[in-house]
Amino acid sequence: MTAQSPIERAEADTVAYEIRDNVAWVKFNRPEKRNCMSPKLNRRMGEVLDELEFRDDFGVLVLSGEGSAWSAGMDLKEYFRENEAKGLGATRGAQREAYGWWRRLRWYQKPTIAMVNGWCFGGGYGPLFACDLAFCADDAQFGLSEINWGILPGGGASKVAVELLSFRRAMYHAMMGENVDGKTAADWGLVNESVPAAQLEARVAEVAKVLLGKNAVALKATKDAIRRVRIMSYDDAEDYLIRAQEAANSYDNEGRKEGIKQFIDDKTFKPGLGAYDLSKQGA
Ligand code: COA
Repeated sequence: MTAQSPIERAEADTVAYEIRDNVAWVKFNRPEKRNCMSPKLNRRMGEVLDELEFRDDFGVLVLSGEGSAWSAGMDLKEYFRENEAKGLGATRGAQREAYGWWRRLRWYQKPTIAMVNGWCFGGGYGPLFACDLAFCADDAQFGLSEINWGILPGGGASKVAVELLSFRRAMYHAMMGENVDGKTAADWGLVNESVPAAQLEARVAEVAKVLLGKNAVALKATKDAIRRVRIMSYDDAEDYLIRAQEAANSYDNEGRKEGIKQFIDDKTFKPGLGAYDLSKQGA
């Protein structure tokens, strides 16, 4: 099938992925529909995330889009109109599949990076927020377009807006239906950084490489901690973080000891300047 084929894309073909340099490069793969999320794509993405999560041939997952879009949000025809015609059960089922993979991505075992190469609308804010880090092209476009076609920003999009933006920006963004470019998205905090499109993949690969050099158990504990403590009181967060570190120790009790040893005894690295040498752990 060519990228622009008018023929219905098979479910298995709605998501593409490859493992390269210990990174899982996963793509929304409906470029002819600007990677909008249909029930098929949502089901397939759930399966792909499942298939990949505990494989040990990669350590970072990058989510990008084939073609000119990252994702044009929910599929207005297949996700909304066709499911609504089938009744409440179909609507709820489709919501479960979409929200399900975003939720799993929010708590994914490996660090995740959204590499936003183009259009990012509405429902796309779900997976955008689900990724731990986000980088975009300067010419990417972000929008809560729901108001433009007559609904509120659902599927978590309103929640993402208030999580990532100031109150005034969230309100303006949601009510006005105007798009912002990559640089503005970075300025507002929707993404970490915006770079020229030609440099996007190299910058993301560079960030992934740094993450690959960190202790994987500590990374999972850290990314979960940053998400969890957002809604906790200070005292609850303090307690959670004690328990979370102790739980992490049950998976890897040697890494932090090795880190301390390489700094204090061996004097081979300084934690303030980079990660300890993982290859010496257990040597
Ligand atoms: N739902 C369903 N179909 C969509 C879609 C969506 N969210 N986004 C794009 N498509 C389809 C178009 O209907 C078109 O289908 P066709 O070839 O059968 O006519 C195809 O994808 C290409 O889209 P097109 O609009 O021609 O591409 P473009 O590059 O000129 O414009 C967008 C890109 C993203 C600006 C435009 O497609 C758009 O506004 N999409 C809707 C965005 C949106 O509101 N999403 C929020 C949903 S919650």
